[in-house]
Parts: sequence; C-alpha cells; structure tokens
Amino acid sequence: MEHQDKLRPPADHLQAWDRDYARRGRVWGGSVKDLPALPEGSLVLEMGCGDGKTLSIMPPSWRVTAIDISMQALRLARQARPDASLLLADGCRLPLQSDGFDAVFAFHVTGHLLQAERQSLGKEAARVLRPGGRIFFRDFSREDMRMGQGEEVEEATFRRGSGIITHYFEEGEVAAMFSGLEMDLIRTQRWSMRIRGEKLLRSEVEAVLVKS
Ligand SMILES: C[S@@+](CC[C@H](N)C(=O)[O-])C[C@H]1O[C@@H](n2cnc3c(N)ncnc32)[C@H](O)[C@@H]1O
Repeated sequence: MEHQDKLRPPADHLQAWDRDYARRGRVWGGSVKDLPALPEGSLVLEMGCGDGKTLSIMPPSWRVTAIDISMQALRLARQARPDASLLLADGCRLPLQSDGFDAVFAFHVTGHLLQAERQSLGKEAARVLRPGGRIFFRDFSREDMRMGQGEEVEEATFRRGSGIITHYFEEGEVAAMFSGLEMDLIRTQRWSMRIRGEKLLRSEVEAVLVKS
C-alpha cells in the first residue's frame, strides 16, 4: 500500500472514517446488490472500497485496484479481496495514470464528501477511465430515511456524531458531477427496511456513465 500525499492530512470528515473503523471494525453489514457483468480480465477500480463489501463479490477474473482514505478500511479490505492492489489515497487526487481502467466503481463514497470534493472525485474517476469505459455510481437519494439526520453542513449534507458526513443526491447532481461523460442509465431505487418494527424507506440514485 502506498501513502499518496504525506504533507496534507485529510480533512476531519475524512479522518473520521479511520476512527470509525478502528472503533467498530467491519462496519458494513448486509449484502451488495448485483454487480454489472464485465468481460474476464477487466481492469477495475473501486473508489472508497471501505471494508471490502463490494470487493468481496467482484468476480475473481477481474483485475482489481481499490483505494480508500482510511488505512483501517484497507486492512479489512485486504481480507475481503487478497489479490487486489490496494492504495491509501484520496479519490479527489488519484495517484493513478489517465485512461487506465475499463470500469470505475463509486459506491457510497461520493456522498461522504463536500460539494467541491464531489466535483473533484467525479473528474478523477473520469480521468482514469479509458475511452469506452464505464463508471458505476450509487449513493443515497434525498428520499432516504436518514436524509435530514445530523447537523446540516452544506445543502442536503449532514454530519452525524462520528464526524462522517453524508450528502443525499438528486439525479441531476450526478449528471453534473460527471459532466463530459455520456449518461447510459440513471434511476432512483427504493426499498424498505424494518427497524424496531417500523418500515422505513431506503433510497439510492444509481447511474452508469460512459467515456467517449
Ligand atoms: C460507505 S463506505 C463504502 C464502502 C464500499 N464502497 C462498499 O460499497 O462497500 C465509504 C468509504 O469511502 C471512503 N472515503 C471517504 N472519502 C474518501 C476519499 N476522499 N477518498 C477515498 N476514500 C474515501 C471511506 O473511508 C469509507 O471507507
């Protein structure tokens, strides 16, 4: 694992992840919904891989690189996908060459950034993608049950007790974040979750973008 930028420590809402993983260990329960079918040998990048929930279901034939801002997350991700190339890096400033990947996954990472950072991550994801490659995006929508919980630090972006921030998306914002790419799919998914007997709505925006 490499450390990308030793001179600039991450902002507090990013450091909060390391504290959270150190305290709680593997934090993400549940299973990942389907992944897209990609050809064998595809070069795949996951941005913000966390403890490796998505990594763990990627087919063994994919050649996987994953980055995260948290070293604690990468230690957990290593167990989930031992053959992945793991990098300690900020998705807003990737230490990776341009046009290198067939697919980039950004699942529930962009939503933990401030607006300017989301724009940077979108640009970086597009930069490292090869022409014809695709970005797969998923993040919570404004309809999600947690929208509004915590202290609002920017529009539709809330900080909760741990210091982690979460932004809740509208579909239009996703198009703007990846402007320059062609939108292949955008939709808002909804499902329900029962917590202490109460049925609550979960909702995420899902998008697929293609680089021409
Ligand atoms: C909700 S977890 C998502 C995990 C994973 N993508 C999955 O689908 O299971 C969000 C992860 O994004 C990471 N993260 C947040 N900001 C980041 C940044 N600027 N660059 C890289 N990783 C970041 C956090 O450390 C955390 O592990």
